[in-house]
Amino acid sequence: MAGRRDRFQQFSERGIVIAILVGIIIGCVCTILLPNDFFNSGSSKVGPGSGESPEQVKMLKSEFAIISEKNAELSKQVRELTEKVLLAEEGTVIKAGPFGTVTGLRTNPTVVPDESVNPRLAKLLEKVAVNKEIIVVLANSNVKPMLEVQIASVKRVGIQNYMVVPLDDSIEGFCKSNEVAYYKRDPDKAVDDVGKSGSGLAVSGLKFRVLREFLQLGYGVLLSDVDIVFLQNPFGHLYRDSDVESMSDGHDNNTAYGFNDVFDDPTMGQSRYVYTARIWVFNSGFFYLRPTLPSIELLDRVTDTLSKSGGWDQAVFNEHLFYPSHPGYTGLHASKRVMDIYEFMNSRFLFKTVRKNQELKKLKPVIVHVNYHRDKLIRMQAAVDFYVNGKQDALDSFSDGTIE
Ligand SMILES: *[C@@H]1O[C@H](CO)[C@@H](O)[C@H](O)[C@H]1NC(C)=O
Repeated sequence: MAGRRDRFQQFSERGIVIAILVGIIIGCVCTILLPNDFFNSGSSKVGPGSGESPEQVKMLKSEFAIISEKNAELSKQVRELTEKVLLAEEGTVIKAGPFGTVTGLRTNPTVVPDESVNPRLAKLLEKVAVNKEIIVVLANSNVKPMLEVQIASVKRVGIQNYMVVPLDDSIEGFCKSNEVAYYKRDPDKAVDDVGKSGSGLAVSGLKFRVLREFLQLGYGVLLSDVDIVFLQNPFGHLYRDSDVESMSDGHDNNTAYGFNDVFDDPTMGQSRYVYTARIWVFNSGFFYLRPTLPSIELLDRVTDTLSKSGGWDQAVFNEHLFYPSHPGYTGLHASKRVMDIYEFMNSRFLFKTVRKNQELKKLKPVIVHVNYHRDKLIRMQAAVDFYVNGKQDALDSFSDGTIE
């Protein structure tokens, strides 16, 4: 698929270059052939029926012959230039350079913004987004206390481009009275029933549907769940070199960034060891999407799978991201990056490792995501106390995991 798309892209870029060349040449032709008359043919001196003398006819004929010759010459030049462009394009795109100089495409082109998909949202984003980027958070009343802690953290850090998508009136009112930018979606019954009363899981699936328009409007979107506190502005810590940049559920470099997990089958004797490539999943509660086709395709695929077969949105998100094409299935061709686990910290890493390590304790993360724990609110507040209010023992009283 990607190969086909790359080809298509080369093809259309080539088309554009050729079209520009042809345009320039047609312009030249017109200037040479019709130096005076091209733009005001109304004042033509040789209008029809003006009764030219045989002398004049002869002159016109010879002019015509000269012009025809010039025309043929220019056509030849167009052909030659077109061929040169094609060759040059092949040279830069197809030929591989020497060892160590070759890289594949990582950054897909961004889509052309299409305001017509949602003019109201387009207007809103123009006001709130910074550098065409925006943080988006979906929330209903069930999570209001966490949203409050998050908004306080966002304001403390001075993040401007933060937007809530309220799923009920109470959260809308809350945003209004706290001067937080929000985008109330147009009524959509199927979606709204889930949004108003839905469990965390059901609401979680909604976000893939909601984000699509943001991308179509040409914005880079940082999706954030509500169980996250912001300690620095995340936009200073993104790489933006991939379609999808996501925080990890991993708790060390191996689990977050990938490792070789050896499967052992002693019955196979000398070839008992089987190598596997493993990675802890991307966390679908905090990820950045560039406005590209693969990003939009990812959203569509996840929405489609969830609506047809249900399931946990995070599992579905990862399956689409990582499963390669295989018989009966064409995989998604999106480029991916894992965020730095010391900067975009999950609560397992914080409570099992970081808080017990004197060196790691000194690092200041960009965000803390209380994804691994049920007692989210008090752990969010503890993270604020520790990292913002300087309470050195704020994290100490907690157990590693949530004890039921
Ligand atoms: C993990 O990776 C980071 C970034 O590459 C590096 O600075 C750090 O030392 C690594 N930690 C360990 C324990 O290897």
